Amino acid sequence: MTKERETWKSHWGMIVAMIGTAIGLGNIWRFPYLCGKYGGATFLIPYVILLFGIAVFAMMCEWVLGRHTKREPLGAFEKIKFPFGRDIGAWGIIGPFFLYSYYIVITSWVIFFVFASFQGLYFGRNTEAYFASFLGSKWIFIVHFAAVFITSGILAMGVQKGIERACKIMIPTLFVLLIAVVARSVTLPGAARGIEFYMRPRWAGLLSAETWVAALGQVFFTLSLGMGAMLIYGSYLKDRWGIPMNAMALALGNTSASILAGFAIFPAAFALGFGSVVGSAESIGLTFFVLPKIFEVMPAGQIFGGIFFVLLTFGAVSSAISIQEPAIAWLTHEVKWSRAKSALFTGVILWIMGLPFILNGFVRGGLGDKLALLSKMDAIIGQLAIPIFGILAVIAVGYFMGDRGFDEMNKNARVKLSHTWLRFWIKAVVPLFVGLLAVLSLLGVLQDNGVIPEIIPAAGDIIFISRGVTPMTIVMIAFVCLLFWGGFAYAAVKVLTIEKDKKRRVRRGLHHSR
Ligand code: PFF
Repeated sequence: MTKERETWKSHWGMIVAMIGTAIGLGNIWRFPYLCGKYGGATFLIPYVILLFGIAVFAMMCEWVLGRHTKREPLGAFEKIKFPFGRDIGAWGIIGPFFLYSYYIVITSWVIFFVFASFQGLYFGRNTEAYFASFLGSKWIFIVHFAAVFITSGILAMGVQKGIERACKIMIPTLFVLLIAVVARSVTLPGAARGIEFYMRPRWAGLLSAETWVAALGQVFFTLSLGMGAMLIYGSYLKDRWGIPMNAMALALGNTSASILAGFAIFPAAFALGFGSVVGSAESIGLTFFVLPKIFEVMPAGQIFGGIFFVLLTFGAVSSAISIQEPAIAWLTHEVKWSRAKSALFTGVILWIMGLPFILNGFVRGGLGDKLALLSKMDAIIGQLAIPIFGILAVIAVGYFMGDRGFDEMNKNARVKLSHTWLRFWIKAVVPLFVGLLAVLSLLGVLQDNGVIPEIIPAAGDIIFISRGVTPMTIVMIAFVCLLFWGGFAYAAVKVLTIEKDKKRRVRRGLHHSR
């Protein structure tokens, strides 16, 4: 007989696990890096549009597919009779290996900076050169091994719930510290240029398909889509979990962290002499040389920086375990291996898969050369693999589950979405839009290689939003904070009412049974 599938005990448990997987390096490292690469606000606009127009729905579809089938990706696609379901679902096990292979390398940078910050090792130095020298040192081997060991150990012992619970405190604290970093960053002399960069869109960039494709990848990446993680978390969800509102709340909270990270990085980058790096090949390491520079000029920066990186480690590790989890879930449930054996096996493979990125750090040259392999891999996984698999879940729900899927989506939801509208959005708009971006992205590649001529002319800058720290900037930051805390307050009130309700029902039940 099959055991009943494990679900999270409390509503809090579910919320915390979702926040654990979603908030991580995608917010603090990847978002500022891509935002810098594609021109600040020029990236921010497509990002916000695609997040709420596409990714939130894709997340709902992964939850629906998981909760309805109660299976891992392999079985889930098969169960709803998706053509080649098992083969397609296999991506949800293989794909995460590729993502993890470099995600854990970046996690290991964070771990290194915990020690470097507490000891003030980079204080008074050129932080970019410091970071580059770390990439070619023995420390990278040590922290990389430690990082893989930590996530595999957590999964072997089955204590990932503990880590997720710890994130309940760690992530909000990270948020508070991030606000303090933002405060320091935007008040630095010369910060205005960074804020302007971050807030002022350029039409030419907005019309470039490349920007949209990168933004599409990021919205899927940041919500942990297209890798089986959300699908599996969906399979553990209780029926009580209202899908639409929770998806919205998670997307809002998660995005506010990314937007704040932008306010932390860009003003300081321009103020502290890294303006020319923003958007260059080196900018993939931006977070790791701009943040240390901010800590250097902050009161008690040594301790503050150390604590900041400890909290970020929690964010990164809780995401990394959710990336390693699908393979372990498959090995334990389907291959019937023990957790320890599965964790050891995946851990060894993942450690080996990370080594090329580590060895790349030893090549001579600039930071861009040392991170070339990692940035290639990130582009392939983040901009190609994740959106493609992510959209398959949308097609699965729209075309292979249909009304059954929409019913599942609305089950016990306070805000219900109409079937007519869902049919239009999930079956037509989302796949068409993503398909269009795929075609445009292909055209872009052909244009870049001179196969076809440029179609979109550079239109120049038209919109001008703000210059420097204006009331607009402050309103924007306040708005983002409000969203986050509002989301938390909402969740807290909701949980309290549910818990109270439950207690009342239990008491009444006891009463009756007497
Ligand atoms: N959402 C995570 C982050 O932003 O850091 C990254 C991630 C986790 C992507 C899990 C995909 C995934 F399955």
